[in-house]
Amino acid sequence: VSLRRLRPLGSTVVEYTWRGRFASDEVEQLHAEGFGHEVDFAYDWVGQVEGYSLGWVCARQHGHLVGWVNVAWDGFTHAFVVDTVVSADCGRNGIGTALVRVAIDAAREAGCEWLHVDFQEHLKAFYFDACGFVQTNAGLISLA
Ligand SMILES: CC(C)(COP(=O)(O)OP(=O)(O)OC[C@H]1O[C@@H](n2cnc3c(N)ncnc32)[C@H](O)[C@@H]1OP(=O)(O)O)[C@@H](O)C(=O)NCCC(=O)NCCS
Repeated sequence: VSLRRLRPLGSTVVEYTWRGRFASDEVEQLHAEGFGHEVDFAYDWVGQVEGYSLGWVCARQHGHLVGWVNVAWDGFTHAFVVDTVVSADCGRNGIGTALVRVAIDAAREAGCEWLHVDFQEHLKAFYFDACGFVQTNAGLISLA
């Protein structure tokens, strides 16, 4: 399934593609910047999401990857938004919200009934107000 949407970002256009093509290095660069870790170009993002995820969404501006989100799942009715990231120089332009919106539509289209996410306190406005998630009980154990 390939779902494409074009949305304006200022005077330029950002293209959103469900299960769009990407190179692992592109996502690793974006992810390292967004989550503040060292880049590891050995990590096989393509193999990981093609093998295990329901899908992912690429946001590209002039061909450059400016946003990405991974949609993991249980193979049935539950999908999980993870690794949502937008490049810092494109932040607060609605790209993150649009990425999640494409993920919501694609997960629904795939037959999923629930889309889950968890996040830190400072992202409540993003996930609740902008993306439309509602608060629920959830649990977490640190395995580190
Ligand atoms: C979180 C992230 C994906 C948001 O992407 P974005 O494109 O900047 O988000 P949007 O422009 O769609 O934001 C919509 C609204 O969400 C809220 N929001 C977004 N990012 C926020 C932040 N960092 N802190 C507080 N509120 C935020 C704001 O209300 C914003 O509206 P406003 O710009 O009019 O105030 C991006 O900041 C990012 O990549 N962060 C680093 C990685 C990360 O923490 N990812 C989330 C993992 S759970």
